[in-house]
Amino acid sequence: MNIDEISLAVANVIAEKALEKDCLTLAVSGGSTPERLFSILAATPINWSKVHVFWVDERFVPVDSEFNNYGKAYELWLSKIDIPPENIHRMKTEKASAIESARDYEKELEGFFKTPLPSFDIVLLGMGDDGHTASLFPGSPALNEKKRAVISVPAPTTAKPAAERITLTFPAINNSAQKIFIISGEKKKAMTLDINKYPAGRVLNAEYFIAS
Ligand code: 6PG
Repeated sequence: MNIDEISLAVANVIAEKALEKDCLTLAVSGGSTPERLFSILAATPINWSKVHVFWVDERFVPVDSEFNNYGKAYELWLSKIDIPPENIHRMKTEKASAIESARDYEKELEGFFKTPLPSFDIVLLGMGDDGHTASLFPGSPALNEKKRAVISVPAPTTAKPAAERITLTFPAINNSAQKIFIISGEKKKAMTLDINKYPAGRVLNAEYFIAS
C-alpha cells in the first residue's frame, strides 16, 4: 500500500474507535509521515467532541515554528474540524524550559487520566531513519526510563531539528490500548524486519502500517 492508502486505513481505525467509545483518547506523533493522515482526518466525519488529542512528543520550539508538531497538526487538521479547544492537549513549549514543559504535561495527563501513567486508546507513532520513535533516540538514557510518563531529552544528533524534546516514555506508550506505527519508505520498511534492534522495537504489541 502507498502512504495515501495506509493513511486512509489508519483514519478508518480512528473513525471506528470513535464510534465505539464515548471518549476516545488519541496521541499523535510529529514528523512528515502523519501529514497525509492529518489531512484525511480533516475530511473524515467523526464526532470530534468525543475525541481528546494528545501528543507523543514535541520539539521545544515556539508553537509557531515550522518544526512544532502541534502547529503542523493544527494547520493540516485541527483548524479544519469542529473540536472543542479543551479537547486539544498540546505540550506547552512556551514554558521556561523543556524540563518544565515535561512536568507540566505529566501533570496534565495525570489530571486527565487520574493515574500516574496515561492509558491512551490509540497512540500513533513514527520511526526515524535511526530507529527512534517518539523522541526516544538510540543510546539515550531516556530509553530506560521506568517511572515517569513524560520527560525532556537533549537535542538529538541523529534527527532534525536539533532542538530539545518533550516525549512520552515507553511506560506511557506501552500502557496504551493500541500502538500504531505509520512507516513509509523502503529503508524503514527493511528496518522493521529487525525492529528489536531499534528503540522503536521497545513498543510492545504494536501494529504496523507500512507504505512501500
Ligand atoms: C518527531 C516525531 C518522530 C517521528 C519520526 C519519523 O517529533 O519527529 O514524533 O518520532 O515520528 O522522526 O519522522 P518522519 O515521519 O518525518 O520520518
